[in-house]
Amino acid sequence: MSKLTAPQFPAPFSAQRAGVSGAAGRHKVALKPGRSLMDWVRLTKSGKDLTGTGGRSFDVTTEELAKHNTVNNCWMAVRGKVYNITPYFEYHPGGVDELMKGAGKDGTQLFDEVHKWVNIESMLESCYIGKLKATPVPVEKSGSPLVKKLYSSLLSAKGHMPPPAPPPIHIPEEKPSPRLDWFQNDSSVTLTIYTRWNDILREHVIIDKKGQKLQAAVVVKDMTYMVHLDLANEVHEKCGVRVSKGTGKLEIILRKVVEGRRWLALGDPLEGHNTYEETGNKEAVFRECKVLSIEPVSHDTHLYCVQLPEGCRMSVPIGHHVHIKANIEGMSIVRSYTPVTASLQYKVPPQLEDIQDEIIYLMIKIYPGGALTPAIDRLVEGSKVLVSNYEGNYQESHMRDCSHLILLAAGTGFTPMVKIIYKNLIEEWEGSRQIKLVFFNKTEKDILWRNQLELLAQENPRFGVFHILSEADDNWDGLRGRIRKEILESFIPPIGEGKKVMICACGPSPFTEEAIRLVQEMGYSLSRIHPFMG
Ligand SMILES: Cc1cc2nc3c(=O)[nH]c(=O)nc-3n(C[C@H](O)[C@H](O)[C@H](O)COP(=O)(O)OP(=O)(O)OC[C@H]3O[C@@H](n4cnc5c(N)ncnc54)[C@H](O)[C@@H]3O)c2cc1C
Ligand code: HEM
Repeated sequence: MSKLTAPQFPAPFSAQRAGVSGAAGRHKVALKPGRSLMDWVRLTKSGKDLTGTGGRSFDVTTEELAKHNTVNNCWMAVRGKVYNITPYFEYHPGGVDELMKGAGKDGTQLFDEVHKWVNIESMLESCYIGKLKATPVPVEKSGSPLVKKLYSSLLSAKGHMPPPAPPPIHIPEEKPSPRLDWFQNDSSVTLTIYTRWNDILREHVIIDKKGQKLQAAVVVKDMTYMVHLDLANEVHEKCGVRVSKGTGKLEIILRKVVEGRRWLALGDPLEGHNTYEETGNKEAVFRECKVLSIEPVSHDTHLYCVQLPEGCRMSVPIGHHVHIKANIEGMSIVRSYTPVTASLQYKVPPQLEDIQDEIIYLMIKIYPGGALTPAIDRLVEGSKVLVSNYEGNYQESHMRDCSHLILLAAGTGFTPMVKIIYKNLIEEWEGSRQIKLVFFNKTEKDILWRNQLELLAQENPRFGVFHILSEADDNWDGLRGRIRKEILESFIPPIGEGKKVMICACGPSPFTEEAIRLVQEMGYSLSRIHPFMG
């Protein structure tokens, strides 16, 4: 069986999280058979004592915590709770070494930096020992409060040699906050947010409105500006959003219920109003959404159309993903999914654009042995599903100066490519950018939206789709095998031609890593490659 098709964990596609070589280097590891998330769920329900304390619960001091710092006896504190993580080592998708970074310590910061959305309280409930007493011991980092404290105590110690130069202290770049203003006419009230970011899009605001309570999260790159108000007067449920391209101005238009009434104030500020924080520091928000329709895409993949709750509007930007959360056998499981468009065949008419902000399309492959997708498979029209705010680091400006866009996708790694194709070829039908989708699958029946892709290629000469199959039958006369240099060389222009090429890659870890390696071997720098990551 070829490398591309071998069953693997992390799930094929979770590999969207593969790091760029030389970048942060966060990786999922191959877990041993019998060590999947579902196996962990079963172990925690088996009644076996996973606390290592005979099930006894007690408060833990930082001194006691520090004693449990080996692979055979390891405790970690996260958000004030101490867990025995010894039994979890073999099940940790990030591997043993990563977990050991928090051994005997408060690992909250490390944990949140990597996967704040993982529901540790639920996953490690059966490993819970007790509350962390006193001040947590921070993990030493250059410039951390602990390092600074040690350094200053060294300085004040009289009679000692002058200490070496202090470690470089990272001073976060000052990011000026957006500014909020408002104005009104007889029928509407408009909130204007000057984001100072010229690339702002309508997708960058997520609105939740219930009665007179209005919450708007404006995502400005890696920061979020919050508007949270109890409005002074009633407004209609639906609101509009307008952005002025190139100025950074974003407007939220509210329609007055009582036309002609002059508002004396906008309203009262509620918790978090007018704050500007790193998005990564914010709590994950999950909303109960309704499944409107489910359509088959292939033998194991479906297209789910999901409606956001009333009063909420969120349009997920290109290359961003949401999380779905479900309770599986008593444990809260969270997985990531990249929204797609309804189809690649027609453009959404402008009058329906607002409705699009209330709906999310998800293309999800079902793994019968998986932890979450069997539960997704049981959803029917009308079912409720918990969907989070979006996350991601792809900026549309990545594409701006490119004339040739090469999309390398494997399996459900196709999902982030859908919105890129839609934007470039359907929304901007008259554009000039050349786009090639090089799509790797096992067999013909695994190819997602094959007809739509081929139709689009026939209709728009700027688009080409090329299939490569690793387990094709004898009737297949196209390309075969897995990602390799000769294949890429036949689709990616040689570097010397001076074309402005951008390459996006998404698929299982080995696929994405190989794509990055081969493209670099062809002479392209990392700045011309965008691997989709979680
Ligand atoms: C940013 C991001 C975006 C994503 N977008 C999408 C998307 O749009 N669409 C989509 O379908 N998926 C997407 N995924 C993948 C998705 O998040 C899940 O990983 C996937 O749905 C599987 O979840 P699961 O819990 O059902 O399966 P898991 O429990 O993770 O298992 C997955 C598969 O691996 C097998 N397995 C588990 N453990 C082992 C083992 N030890 N040895 C061998 N095999 C094992 C299981 O039987 C199953 O077949 C995305 C992932 C990321 C990170
Ligand atoms: C020091 C603390 C920790 C570090 C540094 C760490 C690091 C990592 C890394 C690097 C990954 C791979 C991420 C990726 O693919 O992008 C990962 C995945 C994961 N970790 Fe941890 N981890 C820590 C603690 C924990 C703990 C305590 C749990 C227990 C609940 C946990 C649960 C998970 C899960 C469920 C995933 C898979 C996420 C996914 O499917 O995308 N981690 N971790």
